[in-house]
Amino acid sequence: MSDMMATQAGDAGAFRDLDLSRVPSPCFVVDEKAVEQNLSILSEVAERSGAHILSALKAFSMFALAPLIRQHVGGTCASGIFEARLGREEYGGEVATFCAGYKDQDINEILTLSDHIIFNSPAQKNRFLAKAQSAGVQVGLRINPEHSEGEIPKYDPCAPCSRLGTPASQLSFEVLNGVDGVHMHTLCEQGFEPLQRTWTAVEPKLAPYLGQLKWLNFGGGHHITRDDYDRDALISFIQGIRRKHGVEVYLEPGEAVALDAGILVGEILDLPMNGMNLAITDISATCHMPDVIEAPYRPALMGEPETGTTYRLGGPSCLAGDVIGDYTWTNPLEIGQRFAFLDQAHYSMVKTNTFNGVPLPTIALWNSETDDLKIIKQFGYDDFKDRLS
Ligand SMILES: Cc1ncc(COP(=O)(O)O)c(C=O)c1O
Repeated sequence: MSDMMATQAGDAGAFRDLDLSRVPSPCFVVDEKAVEQNLSILSEVAERSGAHILSALKAFSMFALAPLIRQHVGGTCASGIFEARLGREEYGGEVATFCAGYKDQDINEILTLSDHIIFNSPAQKNRFLAKAQSAGVQVGLRINPEHSEGEIPKYDPCAPCSRLGTPASQLSFEVLNGVDGVHMHTLCEQGFEPLQRTWTAVEPKLAPYLGQLKWLNFGGGHHITRDDYDRDALISFIQGIRRKHGVEVYLEPGEAVALDAGILVGEILDLPMNGMNLAITDISATCHMPDVIEAPYRPALMGEPETGTTYRLGGPSCLAGDVIGDYTWTNPLEIGQRFAFLDQAHYSMVKTNTFNGVPLPTIALWNSETDDLKIIKQFGYDDFKDRLS
């Protein structure tokens, strides 16, 4: 395992009290109270700042919670035609769609589903502008502020030669012709200060055009619901921009909606030994938590002690690298024993796949206040087969 692999902090919160044998394994369990708590923070920020907050479906699209989510935020942001449809069908409110490349065959439907359509380049904007305008959909252009705050190039849309957003140095009145708003998404799991620095860097480049814009969309990556996020500073930042430039401000948090609100429960299948203790589990990094390999990061194990017996945990797939990480238990593991990884509601459920025919985790909703537990969805052979032909 690489030294570069980040270890996720994770907070077990109320999940400490959940009996893991109450759900089938593997299973995503989302605590609706934890989601509600995050949403109350977001709605307070929206109310105090006057910003429109849209929930990013790419991070968390458990639409069983759409009725709750719609009570607190103004709508959804979508990454293309399918998320736009899910946003319109299940969540309501505003739908802002950004896609790095739109296709002719999809554009009419996307326009019927979206309130804002955000283009990645002037060429895409020019190609579809007339259609968007006649459909009454507001037009946005994603820009690249050319100011990096990301530490990892893979997650930095401002890294050299990035394909995401029109470089701010290429802006002109012609490029922004017909554009109602400017969008930028440059952050990843960050606090307020990187947003402030990004704005300080890009505001002078946008200054000539701000008078003609109706809105600014600051994308996602804002960890607004984290305890140490400076929410007061964000609120005055947004108020300041609205006052100074007369624009509406949009934010598209994804992770912040579902932060620390879900776990992934798994089970020990086998305990081989090869140079160290190994454990085969029914959770696969590559199928169920692909960011573990892609990012990479080490998900936090619920209740992991400082000392004890350490095992290298891996999935049931054929991939040699289907390894989750090295984890310690106070007592030696047993076959059939349950365990859970923390903070698995976002960028997990939305990224699962059935490589090797590995079954998809069940999705369950738990209420940590009432202890009510509902199985929302179970997947089977048909879900695997339907993706193939
Ligand atoms: C355009 C856009 N908006 C919103 C988000 C949500 O970001 P996060 O889940 O980090 O808040 C992303 C994430 O990649 C994004 O690309």
